[in-house]
Amino acid sequence: MSQLLLFRPAHTADWPAIAMLLQRYGLPLEGAQVHLKDFIVAVNEAGDLEGVAGLERYREVGLLRSVAVAEQRRGVGAALVERILERARSLGMQQVVLLTTTAVDYFPRFGFQRIERSEAPAAVHASAEFQGACPASATVMLLRL
Ligand SMILES: CC(C)(COP(=O)(O)OP(=O)(O)OC[C@H]1O[C@@H](n2cnc3c(N)ncnc32)[C@H](O)[C@@H]1OP(=O)(O)O)[C@@H](O)C(=O)NCCC(=O)NCCS
Repeated sequence: MSQLLLFRPAHTADWPAIAMLLQRYGLPLEGAQVHLKDFIVAVNEAGDLEGVAGLERYREVGLLRSVAVAEQRRGVGAALVERILERARSLGMQQVVLLTTTAVDYFPRFGFQRIERSEAPAAVHASAEFQGACPASATVMLLRL
């Protein structure tokens, strides 16, 4: 990460740039905007969006979603995921779940393990991602904090 980046909670005004970044990778927009206050963004010195990671809160269970970076392989994704997991811990969450079709081999480095969809904590089944925004074939992964 040669460029200085600021990591901060997402603001309402960040939404258009976040939506564009998610769309670029075909990631779902459904349910993202209502959880925006629990998203973290990375912005460069010009204020441009360099990455995003989202958290949905279901009491002691979190759903990690919408992890995307403008330029890959600079450590921005890892920095975002680490920060959002730290936030989940500070909120008292005990488990974090994610669904992915594109990054099954990325998340084990943070401790996530594959589980069956049916093994996912009941609370996250209410999320838009579980309700259909993510394909049924998506891999479900779980991290115990
Ligand atoms: C997945 C993503 C967020 C990772 O962020 P990043 O900033 O590129 O990754 P980092 O710099 O933190 O880590 C780089 C490492 O992750 C690996 N990696 C990156 N994307 C990967 C992926 N989709 N699957 C598996 N490994 C991946 C790189 O090969 C590299 O490995 P190395 O450390 O062995 O060299 C980013 O590639 C991205 O935006 N992808 C498109 C959107 C997406 O698929 N998001 C996941 C949705 S759940």
